[in-house]
Amino acid sequence: MTRSVAMEHILEPTADPAWVLESEGYDPLRESNVESRFAISNGFLGIRGGRSTTRGARWVVPARTYVAGLFDTPGADRAVPGLVPAADWLQVRILLSGAPMVHHPGDVSSHRMTLDMRRGALLSQGHHFKSPDLRVRVRTLRLVSLSERAVGLQLIQFEIEEGTLEVTFEAAFEGMNLGLVSEQIEQDLGVWRTQHSGKGLAMATASSLRIDGHDLPPAALGQLKSSWSWTARPGQLVCFERAVAIVRSDTEALNPGTEAREKLGLARHVGWRGVVAAHEAAWASRWQSSEVEVEGDAAAQLVLRFALYHLNSAANPADERVSIGARALTGDVYHGHVFWDTEIFLLPFYVLTWPDAARALLMYRFHTLDAARAKAVGMGWRGALYAWESADTGVETTPEQVIAPDHRVIDVLCGKQEQHISADVAYAVWQYWQATGDDEFLRDAGAEIILETGRFWSSRAQPEADGYCHIRGVIGPDEYHQNIDDNAFTNVMARWNIRRALDVAALLRERWPVCWTRLSSRLGLDEAELKRWLDVAETMATGLDPETGLFEQFAGYFALEDIDLTNYAGRSVPIDIVIGRERTQKSQVVKQADVVALLCLLPEEFAHGAAAENFRYYEPRCSHGSSLSPAMHGLVAARLGDAEMALRFFRQTAAIDLSDTHVAIDGGVHIGALGGIWMLAVFGFAGLSLRNDGIVIDAKLPAGWRSLAFGVQWRRRHLRIRIDQDKQRLEATLESGEPMILVVRDEPHELRRDQALRVFTGRP
Ligand code: BGC
Repeated sequence: MTRSVAMEHILEPTADPAWVLESEGYDPLRESNVESRFAISNGFLGIRGGRSTTRGARWVVPARTYVAGLFDTPGADRAVPGLVPAADWLQVRILLSGAPMVHHPGDVSSHRMTLDMRRGALLSQGHHFKSPDLRVRVRTLRLVSLSERAVGLQLIQFEIEEGTLEVTFEAAFEGMNLGLVSEQIEQDLGVWRTQHSGKGLAMATASSLRIDGHDLPPAALGQLKSSWSWTARPGQLVCFERAVAIVRSDTEALNPGTEAREKLGLARHVGWRGVVAAHEAAWASRWQSSEVEVEGDAAAQLVLRFALYHLNSAANPADERVSIGARALTGDVYHGHVFWDTEIFLLPFYVLTWPDAARALLMYRFHTLDAARAKAVGMGWRGALYAWESADTGVETTPEQVIAPDHRVIDVLCGKQEQHISADVAYAVWQYWQATGDDEFLRDAGAEIILETGRFWSSRAQPEADGYCHIRGVIGPDEYHQNIDDNAFTNVMARWNIRRALDVAALLRERWPVCWTRLSSRLGLDEAELKRWLDVAETMATGLDPETGLFEQFAGYFALEDIDLTNYAGRSVPIDIVIGRERTQKSQVVKQADVVALLCLLPEEFAHGAAAENFRYYEPRCSHGSSLSPAMHGLVAARLGDAEMALRFFRQTAAIDLSDTHVAIDGGVHIGALGGIWMLAVFGFAGLSLRNDGIVIDAKLPAGWRSLAFGVQWRRRHLRIRIDQDKQRLEATLESGEPMILVVRDEPHELRRDQALRVFTGRP
C-alpha cells in the first residue's frame, strides 16, 4: 500500500498556481495548440501534450515523440529533410466488460490536464463513467527524464469508485511503421532505421501493473505489448507504470538496441520513484540556476515560468550533434530545422544560465563547419556560409518553394540569400567566450568558426568604384524584401565578424602561437589575406547617414512607399496578406526587427542619440510578421528607457504561445520568442550587459513590477541579482567564484562572496 500512496503523491501537481498551466475539458478547436503548449521535453526527447482522453476506441490519443537529430529525407531527390517521429510508446487501451472505455470528447467537466512546470511533468485527472453504476477515477503522469535523457516514464492510476466488472488493460506502441523501417521488434525492444539517412533508433520498454499493491502478471505479451485482465471491484486501486529508454545512433554500424536495454535496466533498477526523484532534482537545479522572479505582476511571472520551462526543456548539453529547431521538440513546423533563432534568441539564455548547453549548441556549428565551407565555395565565395535552415549535417535544407498563407506557391530565396546567419553564429561564439572565458572552446573550435565566417564576408563584400565594399543580393532579417543590396544589419554584422576574426587571429598568435601556426596553415591564412580583411572592414558600406544617424535598412529603402500601419491595426493576418506581397515588397513595411535587431545586438554601433532616432523611425514601420520581432523591440524600448512600451511588447510576445487568439501554435511553441522573453526581462528591464571586467546593470522596471530577481553565471561565477523598485535598491550576491565588478548606474562596485552588495538606485 505504501507504493500506491507514493504514486498518489506523485500524481498530485504542484499546488502553487504560479507553477502550473491547466486545461479543463475539451475544445477541438484549440486541442493542437494545447498539445504544443503542454509538450514535455529534455532536449533529446520531446512529447507533445496529446491528452489522455479519447476520441475513439483508444483511451490515450497518439502523443508524438520526437527524437533530437533523428532526421530523414523522405525519398524524392529535392525533398527537404525533417524530424521523423518515433513510435508512440504511451498507448493504452482499457476494455470494460469487453468494450473500450470511451470518454466523450464533448464532456468538458471531467478532465483536467496540468503542466507542472516546476517538476517538468504532464499530469491529468478525470472521471470516467460508462453507465450510472460504473465510475472510474483516472490520474496520469508522463515525463522525459532531465537527468537521464534516454528515459521516459508513464504512470497511470485508476480507482474503481463504483461498479464490479471485467477489465482488460493493454499497453502497446502505436505507429511502429510510420516513416521508419523496423529491423527488430520484440516484446521489450524495437529497433528501427531511417530510410535514407542511415540513422538507427531503439526503444526498450518495460511495464507493470499492480492492484492494491500486488503485482498482477500480464495475461498476454506481444511485440512491444502487454495486457492484463482482472475483475475490478469498488475501492480497488490500480497502478500502471511504463518506462522506456530511447537511443539514437548516427551510424549504420551500431545497433542502438543494446544501449537502450542497458539504459532501461538502469531505470528499472532505481524504479519509477528513483526516476522521478532524479528528474525532479535535475529540474530543481535548472530552476535554481535560471529562475526569474517578478513581484507585482502575477501574469508576467507565469509568462516567464512558461518561457523558462520550455527553454530548460529544449537543450541537451550532452549532444553536440544537434541544435534546437525553431519549434524545439514540441511540433513539426519547419521540420525541426535550426535557424538564427538559436544563436540570437536562445544562446543568451544558455550562455548566462547554462553554459554547458550553450557550448554544445555552438559545437553543433563547429561540427557542421565543413558543410558551411562547402556552401560558400559552391556559391563562388570563400570561408564558411552556414545554412539558413540546417538539420543534422549542416547542409542547406531551406525548401525552395512553399505555399504562402494565401495558398499561392512562392519561391523561397532564403536558402541562397539570407546570409546574415554566418555572422549570427560568429556573434554567438564571441558572446559565449566573453561571458564564460572558456578559452579551450575558443582555441579548439570557436576561433575556426569566427575566422572562416570572417573570411566568408571578406570574399563576399566586393570593392566597387565608389571606394566602398558592397554586399549585394541578400535578404536581411526582414524577409519581405528580397534580393536587396547592402542590408544594414548584414553589412554591419559582417564588418563586426571580420573585425572579431582579426581579433581572434591576434589573440591566438599571442596566447597560443603553436595553435595559431597549425590552424592558420591548415586554413591557408596568411598576412596578405588578413590585411585584405582589414581593408574590407574599413570600407564596408553600411547605409549610415552621418547627418541624421539613421541607417537605411538597405540601398533604396527610403524611397519605397511609406505605409501607415496604424490603418491596419487589429488585423488578424500578416500585413503581406492584407495588402498583397507585391505591394509589401515595394513598401517600407518591415516584417521583423532588422535595423532594430542591429540596435539590439550591437548598440555600440549607434552614436549617442542615434539609437533612439533609429528606433523611432523603424518601430512604427514594423508589422511583426515574425514571432521573433516583438521581444526584440521590447528589449530595445526598455534600454531606451520606455519600460511601458517594453511591457506592451512583453505581453505581445507572451500572447504568441499563451493565448489562443493570436498566432496558431499548433505546430509547436515559438522557442525563439520564448528566448526573447528572457532577453527582454534580463537585458531589457534589468538592463544587463557584459564588460570585460564584469557585468553592468541599468534597470528600468515597468511601473507595476515591485521587484525583479534572477540568477546569471559569468566566467565561472554564479550571481543573483535583485532589483527592488519599491525600495529603489539593487541587491547582488556572489554565490560562487572570485570577486568581480558590478556596475550599477555607471558606478563600479566590487562584488565579493562574503558580502552582499546593496546599491541605492533611486534618482537623486
Ligand atoms: C522568420 C525568421 C525565423 C524563422 C524561424 C521566419 O518567419 O522570419 O527570422 O528564423 O521564421 O523562426
